[in-house]
Amino acid sequence: MKNIVVLVSGGGTNLQALIDAENRGEIPSGKISCVISSKPGVYALERAQKAGIPSRVIDRKLYSDRGGYSQAILEALDEEKADLVILAGFMIILDERVPKAYPNRILNVHPALIPSFCGPGFYGLKVHEAALAAGVKLTGATVHFVSEVCDGGPIILQGAVPVKYGDTPEILQRRVMEEVEWKLLPKAAALFCDGKIIVENGIAYVKE
Ligand code: GAR
Repeated sequence: MKNIVVLVSGGGTNLQALIDAENRGEIPSGKISCVISSKPGVYALERAQKAGIPSRVIDRKLYSDRGGYSQAILEALDEEKADLVILAGFMIILDERVPKAYPNRILNVHPALIPSFCGPGFYGLKVHEAALAAGVKLTGATVHFVSEVCDGGPIILQGAVPVKYGDTPEILQRRVMEEVEWKLLPKAAALFCDGKIIVENGIAYVKE
């Protein structure tokens, strides 16, 4: 059984999707053993508590720089004996020591079809605002491994949704979450825990 540590910063709907999938038996080889939040008081922490999952807060505001914060996260991941780390709405960019210590063992869900609308500054609603401003007709979400490059690691799963007339960033975000993120993130976690994701020359492949 693989220990899954989930990192969050906000509402935690993706965390909830992971918890629900685990409860339905859809992640048979993994167990969410800890939730770490970059902020105190966020609803994701309540979701963890309701599910009986231990949680920790490592408050970004208490660290003066990215290096110190990344070191604190690394120590927590080691203490929790993480086999798989999942960034589920985690809004902090960590330094390269974290992916180097956990190569192809950190999943991130990004709310766009990478390589569109990604990289530093593209997070949360800003991503959907950018998609609407560009006038794209399809957007979606990507689950990928985290590498030293922000949103640049091997792509594992992607799903698309249409952009519709009258969409606001909030409406589009909801569609992307419901139709893609909440399905693909638990699926990727299950595939990882079952040893079904391989990476060759920087490209991820799923053995289904
Ligand atoms: C999700 O849409 C997730 O893809 C996005 O933030 C939202 C968090 O929602 N993540 C990023 O933008 C990371 N770059 P949640 O807290 O309800 O899961």
